[in-house]
Amino acid sequence: MQKITTVSLSEMKQQQKKISMLTCYDYATSLIMNEACIDVLLVGDSLGMVVLGYENTLPVTMDEMLHHTKAVKRGNSRALLVADMPYLSYQVKKKDALKNAGRFLKEGGAEAVKIEGGREMAKIIKAMLDADIPVMGHIGLMPQAVHKMGGYKVQGREEKQAQALLEDAKILEDAGVFSLILESIPQELARKITRSLSIPTIGIGAGRYCDGQVLVVNDMLGLYKKIHPKFVKKYADLSSIMKKAFTDFKEEVTQEKFPDEEHSYK
Ligand code: KIV
Repeated sequence: MQKITTVSLSEMKQQQKKISMLTCYDYATSLIMNEACIDVLLVGDSLGMVVLGYENTLPVTMDEMLHHTKAVKRGNSRALLVADMPYLSYQVKKKDALKNAGRFLKEGGAEAVKIEGGREMAKIIKAMLDADIPVMGHIGLMPQAVHKMGGYKVQGREEKQAQALLEDAKILEDAGVFSLILESIPQELARKITRSLSIPTIGIGAGRYCDGQVLVVNDMLGLYKKIHPKFVKKYADLSSIMKKAFTDFKEEVTQEKFPDEEHSYK
């Protein structure tokens, strides 16, 4: 088994091998993703919406993120494990950002952290690297900035904004991120950014030209129905499968068909 590291991702870009990444929030799913050889597991702060039922990602806390990072770590053996820094855990004071990022590695067992933001994050990224914490960047649609952006909208459609994203990507690369998430931007812009960087880009709603792709696991399994962006491909409809299992169980209990002899002790 080849353990995937931040260095492996850079080698994959050089060798033109596409990177697969999924969000993951628990031990059981982590084991299955490892069996499927998914390259990167991200304990995303999307946890707040798809697992904890919050309206957006803003209320997610460090304790919640750490709790789930530890669970994913227990099931992970091969993938690179990245933890997402929640809102206000890195934006206010450098000292707090370093301490919080460090907790993900020290207590959570993560191997890197991810932060949202463009050029304004360059200083904090450099400080994290000085503390030996690898950082993944995230630009384009940034869910933690949902109120500033006025909703979950495609970014970089206008020339000025596209240029700013291109510049941000370069600044983040220079600051030292090992990889960059591009969320909800036109695919031609993602292609331009991907070509201009030597670090790998990982797209979500950014088209086919990125060096890798990421999806939110609950979206691709058909388990989260509140928001349905165009870029989400449903690889399974687990919601229907689970509903049928629960309904069948209820019916068998009600009709006294379960438990039968096979599922009872003598
Ligand atoms: O939290 C998350 O799930 C993410 C992905 C959208 C990349 O940041």
